Amino acid sequence: MSVKDFLEDVIDCNVENEKEWIEGYCSVVGDILNHPKYELLRGFNHHKIISCHFHSVYVSFLTYKISTLLGCDVIEATRAAALHDFYLYDWHITKHDEFHAWYHPKMAVINSQVYFEQLSKKQTDMILSHMWPLHLMPPKSREGMILTMVDKYCTSMDMFRQSKRFLPVYHEIDKEVKKHGNIK
Ligand SMILES: [Fe+2]
Ligand SMILES: [Fe+2]
Repeated sequence: MSVKDFLEDVIDCNVENEKEWIEGYCSVVGDILNHPKYELLRGFNHHKIISCHFHSVYVSFLTYKISTLLGCDVIEATRAAALHDFYLYDWHITKHDEFHAWYHPKMAVINSQVYFEQLSKKQTDMILSHMWPLHLMPPKSREGMILTMVDKYCTSMDMFRQSKRFLPVYHEIDKEVKKHGNIK
């Protein structure tokens, strides 16, 4: 597969083509997406009018596809990606002593461990380093590098109002999660 085909496959947002990807993705993170605390992310603006929920699903869905296609640790990567911005506050309103870009990954790690699971060392590093190169801590794993690149891609799509192309897949994921309840 050429790089062009690979990238086109990853960013494809045609629901019909994505059915198997959506089912597989939901089987990995359905319990997270169905959790009442995760639902709160719908109420936090993340990038302009894009909610933290939409952004997190977008990032983790693409991370799921890339880590599958590259033979990475799919479950660890996708679950860490779903939780990478699980900081649970509106950063436009709630301010901290530390710059948001550096502070929120730490809160995401703490909240993930409180509400979901003990994160592995790799997952903790993935979440803490996802803002690289805004700080000097590059990801230590392939999965972490995938997450930080996908996060940049999805953030650009959010900023340039292009992420609506993911909306049909996002709605389909919502339906799939609600249909099966706590999938995992
Ligand atoms: Fe983030
Ligand atoms: Fe993010």
